[in-house]
Amino acid sequence: MSRIAYVNGRYLPRGEAQVSVEDRGFQFADGVYEVCEIRNARIVDERRHMERLQRSLGELRIRLPMSLKALSVVLHETVRRNRVVDGLVYLQITRGVARRDFGFPPAGTSPSVIVTARHLDRMRGERAAAEGITVVTMPETRWARVDIKSVALLPNVLAKQAAREQGTQEAWFVDSRGFVTEGASSNAWIVTRDRKVVTRPTGDDILRGITRTVLLDVLAAQGLVLEERPFTVAEVLAAGEAFVTAASQIVTPVIRIDGKPIGDGRPGPIAAALRREFHRHTEFS
Ligand code: PDD
Repeated sequence: MSRIAYVNGRYLPRGEAQVSVEDRGFQFADGVYEVCEIRNARIVDERRHMERLQRSLGELRIRLPMSLKALSVVLHETVRRNRVVDGLVYLQITRGVARRDFGFPPAGTSPSVIVTARHLDRMRGERAAAEGITVVTMPETRWARVDIKSVALLPNVLAKQAAREQGTQEAWFVDSRGFVTEGASSNAWIVTRDRKVVTRPTGDDILRGITRTVLLDVLAAQGLVLEERPFTVAEVLAAGEAFVTAASQIVTPVIRIDGKPIGDGRPGPIAAALRREFHRHTEFS
């Protein structure tokens, strides 16, 4: 089936969908994005993703070029036209097309809007969760505002590739003080031996994951104790469990870090329960 992309007002077959060579997303990575899970043909937590989008745009002083209502129609229409039942919808907004110049383009330059949607094999995600994934640590090399969901992802690209070349699925960045910040495309969590769930507090140095935000509700509903504080790699190794969260992965257990087992080296019961309960706490649209 041919895939359809939305580009600046038009739905086009993917092969025909193009952006200008002068798009600032291409020239400067001057843009932001969102990724939402699609489950049973509904968008998961659209409202929260759109709130974060507006915040990212605001921090970069990029104007949202259409109403949120119109944007919502585009997201749903792209999902529908691609007949995605389980998958992801991707939205990118850049500062638009203008002659290459570092400063902002002339007032009136319209931001570019691109939306794509794709199918994900739900069983594959379930298998990954049942088996657990492995991670490697990397020095934190990203800029100081990774709370903005910018498309400037080069350190994340290099970290993910290095992780794959080492036969693992994710990289966990570690800051100069030895604390884990987050994954290349996920938030990082541990569960201590006494069942406390630990994740880094939100700030400029991690992305405020929507999955992370929802999981706080899941934890409360499960009666689990949350500790929002930075944790070290030594604490990961001493933990009972570890896991990642992201729209594309929900809750996925981590069973090894830098080649060493976490807990008993198998996915733990708390991560499994959180994954199972997760969608009882999400919004669907
Ligand atoms: N990545 N941290 C980083 C660096 C991320 O790229 C992501 C998501 C997250 C988790 O955020 P959320 O729960 O809102 O998905 C944390 C998306 C899925 C991606 O780039 O594909």
